[in-house]
Amino acid sequence: MLSKVEELIKEVKSLQADSADVAEKLRIKYLGQKGKVKDLFADFRNVPGDKKKEFGQKLNELKNLAEDKIAELKSATEDNSHSKQQKFHDLSLPGEEVAVGSRHPISLVRQEIIEVFSRIGFTVSEGPEVEDDWHNFTALNFPEEHPARDMQDTFFVKNVFSDEELALRTHTSSVQVRVMENEKPPIRTISPGRVFRNEAISARAHCMFHQIEGLYIDEAVSFADMKQTLLYFAREYFGEKAKIRLRPSYFPFTEPSAEVDVWWGLENESDYRITKGTGWLEIMGCGMVDPNVLKNCNIDPEVYSGYAFGMGIERIAMNKYGINDLRMYFENDVRFLRQFSGATH
Ligand code: DAH
Repeated sequence: MLSKVEELIKEVKSLQADSADVAEKLRIKYLGQKGKVKDLFADFRNVPGDKKKEFGQKLNELKNLAEDKIAELKSATEDNSHSKQQKFHDLSLPGEEVAVGSRHPISLVRQEIIEVFSRIGFTVSEGPEVEDDWHNFTALNFPEEHPARDMQDTFFVKNVFSDEELALRTHTSSVQVRVMENEKPPIRTISPGRVFRNEAISARAHCMFHQIEGLYIDEAVSFADMKQTLLYFAREYFGEKAKIRLRPSYFPFTEPSAEVDVWWGLENESDYRITKGTGWLEIMGCGMVDPNVLKNCNIDPEVYSGYAFGMGIERIAMNKYGINDLRMYFENDVRFLRQFSGATH
């Protein structure tokens, strides 16, 4: 028995392989389920008690040796086939295509909207996504008991260093406040950014989305100025023939306030669905900045006036690209994202 093991040890030491295939065959022959080494382990129980120790040690030596040897043959032959492959690589073949990513539809629409407003002198400003109560609510004239401050709509976070209660901003209107606090009129700015609300996620609602806020403050800015700017935006973005209508509405930070609809058309079934049968599509909220908000930001409402507006980017992109589920924007499914690789910007 022992000599059988010793014989195998010799045999294993002299093993050779000139390809990965042969090395694999040797692995099966020696170390496989029905291999030679396994067979000897099966014989172990027939070894007399006093010889068991010696035999066991030899057997383990064989097993380790076989494992090392075969690993060595494997790595040698793999390298071999690799270098062979390189040696015969056809240098005249065309290069491998580098996969290029595509712009996200939210980025595309955001960029287009920024361009429309920058053509008439609006700058771009940004603010933090984690915001304090003052900038997100109080300075914007939200009454203390306003339901939007409720846990249901707002994600609250605590600053662990100061114990200050903070919130994930629920709208980009918070950036207006920051701009007015830091800059002197005339102010013309738009603020794109991500916002968060504590909503159950579905095709029509999500806990995060994107908005673009607009703000114009100067002496003697009127409601008519706002209407004309929004009409300009609609025509640039939706096409020359675009029409808009303003419906009275309410926001704590503007007075008077309105909602803006753009004429979408009512020609086929999908127009009916998108516009809920009216032909009009709601695209934003707007209004004249409330004098209280100006005062909160140290701007004298006797001297200055202005307008503000805010729109949701997802909504606009949905209509533009026919996307019918909000969740698609955040799932990073390449089959969805690839569809925008041909889009400009
Ligand atoms: N902040 C509003 C929202 O999130 C949108 C909005 C409405 C912004 C009217 C404005 C405005 O600046 O004037 O629903």
